Amino acid sequence: MERLPGFRDFYPEPLPHPDVWSADARQYIFAKWRATARTYGFREYDGPPLEPLELFTTKSGEEIVGQLYNFADKGERSVSLRPEMTPTLARMVAAHERNYKKPIKWFAVPQLYRYERQQKGRLREHFQFNADLIGESDPAADAELIALLIDSLRAFGLTAEDFVVRLSSRNAWHEFYHRGRQDSSEADAVHEYQFFQVIDKLERALPEESAKKLAALGFKLDDVNAFIAGGKPTAQLQFILDNLAARGLGGFVKIDYHVIRGLAYYTGVVFEAFDRKGEFRAIAGGGRYDNLVKLISGGKVNLPALGFGMGDVVLLELLKARGLLPAFDANVDVFCLIEEESLRPATLQLVQNLRLSGRAVEFPLTPTKPDKQFKRAQELKASFTAKLDNDSYVRIRNLKTRQEVVAGVRDAANHLT
Ligand code: HAM
Repeated sequence: MERLPGFRDFYPEPLPHPDVWSADARQYIFAKWRATARTYGFREYDGPPLEPLELFTTKSGEEIVGQLYNFADKGERSVSLRPEMTPTLARMVAAHERNYKKPIKWFAVPQLYRYERQQKGRLREHFQFNADLIGESDPAADAELIALLIDSLRAFGLTAEDFVVRLSSRNAWHEFYHRGRQDSSEADAVHEYQFFQVIDKLERALPEESAKKLAALGFKLDDVNAFIAGGKPTAQLQFILDNLAARGLGGFVKIDYHVIRGLAYYTGVVFEAFDRKGEFRAIAGGGRYDNLVKLISGGKVNLPALGFGMGDVVLLELLKARGLLPAFDANVDVFCLIEEESLRPATLQLVQNLRLSGRAVEFPLTPTKPDKQFKRAQELKASFTAKLDNDSYVRIRNLKTRQEVVAGVRDAANHLT
């Protein structure tokens, strides 16, 4: 039986085949994400992987709706696997926001599902580090979140030479759009979103195609390109740049009006992180979505919000390409040798005590020849072997320095440094 296209098997290293993914690398990435989020005071939350279909159809915009894994469940409810986390977060916050002091700073590491055309950096399932800040409209919140995005990437050893956060603003594009059109009707909001979609695809589409689509909406490609090339920061963007510069993070951001984001709910500042060489798809993307909580709560709760999502797929490709992944070993601290079967009960006691002291311990489950035991200890890259001489004394050997000490059994844990 084959796995479905666009889904992944995660194996412990060393990897048995080029077509599988590393469970160790995944764990490494998650741990860095969580540790960095905590240094910024973000708390972890999670929601259901399956949601009512409606949560996504009205809020996220056409592009994601076309990629939904949706079906009718056995109770004939229309449901969908989550393609993104933001609508779930908005629902959860709206339900219980009174219990939390503002601003709310939350993060999650959900697995998300999108029926996408498979290509480099895009699968049908991925994990995404989401960090969102809710209840603060000041651009200081935007700067704080972007600083977290930058530091989450720096935590892996990536530098300003490896990646850049391209900063833009839907407000700036909104103004550009309304300089071209005076209309502000409901129909015009749809029209404006179509315009945003063309901008979002500008770098990937042929210029003739973009020009044609823009013309149909009443705009000239040359004007659009001139606006992007001008790259003049709005007052809000300038505030964010200054705030990041004060943190010493100025080298990680630049204004780039190519970025507008595909999702429908963004309202203000938007941004995307890319590798500097432009070899990969976006590493992360996010922005302000000041109306989403209100929309999802049916007008009951109104809170400004912003956040970003960083996928594990592109990040892993980038870390591999830059040689920034550590070697993943079994991480066994101690291998307990049992050469004398009569000492097995006492060795089991030792194993138990060492594990209770937090050490990763391995030992032969069944009677095994001494040379095989030693080979296994080496394969597992154990730091120490421990062998009982008798019920009371244990011989501890450091496999790197080859130094050996004899210690009392109860004292064994103190000799493992
Ligand atoms: P997004 O731009 O759709 O934003 O996704 C964010 C990141 O997730 C992308 O930059 C990419 O790294 C990764 N990603 C997306 N789709 C795939 C895929 N099919 N395969 C692999 N990786 C993928 C959002 O999802 C927003 N909800 C982020 C957000 C949070 N905005 C505010 N808060």
